[in-house]
Amino acid sequence: MKYIIANWKMNLSLTDALELVSETLGFLKKQHPKISFSKYFMIAPPYPFLYPLHQLIKKNGSLLSLASQDVSSHEKGAFTGEISAQQLQEMGVQAILIGHSERRLYHHETEDLLLQKIQKSLAVGLLPIICLGESLDIRKSHQTIPFIIHQLNTLCSPLNSHAFNPGTPPFLIAYEPLWAIGTGITPSPKEIEEVHNALHQRLKSLFPTHLVPVIYGGSVTSINARDILSLPSVDGSLIGGASLSITPFLDILRNALS
Ligand code: PGA
Repeated sequence: MKYIIANWKMNLSLTDALELVSETLGFLKKQHPKISFSKYFMIAPPYPFLYPLHQLIKKNGSLLSLASQDVSSHEKGAFTGEISAQQLQEMGVQAILIGHSERRLYHHETEDLLLQKIQKSLAVGLLPIICLGESLDIRKSHQTIPFIIHQLNTLCSPLNSHAFNPGTPPFLIAYEPLWAIGTGITPSPKEIEEVHNALHQRLKSLFPTHLVPVIYGGSVTSINARDILSLPSVDGSLIGGASLSITPFLDILRNALS
């Protein structure tokens, strides 16, 4: 099975959100066997929807899990507007998107800050989903692999693998080329494989006793999901636009199940 993480960004009303999750849960209930969907299928809604969605998911057999779109780099205190990893965990969150390119770009998030967010999430047992990706300029100047590996090294080599739980992924890596997000353009399968293979290789040398899944994001749709998810180096997908309505989203989940 492959990971599918729906990043709703700042979209949908609460009514739409409840309906979309109810329909997704209805679809998952019909699947046999019901093996650990919640480990692989996650929804990252806007913050205020987390708790109502958590209640809905819990009432229906916990077949999905919730991710947050961000987290504070602080543990607690006078940080108006921020939400801590601990508070998110209390709202039923299990994973946190960290370093999405929209946060890096619009909120000027630095790698130092992102590292603190990763550490705060790990400290309370939440799964960081660490987003990496190159700009079109970097891609065109053939610097993609060194750039991505540098991003990985900066955020992951300081992590202490002794604190990781054995047998479960300590975090996920999401490779999302900036030029593919929301544009309808995706890298070729060969280009995706090149980056994913380089990431897998580096992760293996950093964390030889842990398996770190690498998922792809950027213009994944119900049309291209099958091809992308069938690539051996792709452990799943981070989905933006195509996760906002039920028909394409269920099509993508079907591909991830098969
Ligand atoms: P997209 O977004 O699927 O709409 O391209 C992906 C993302 O930003 O995670």
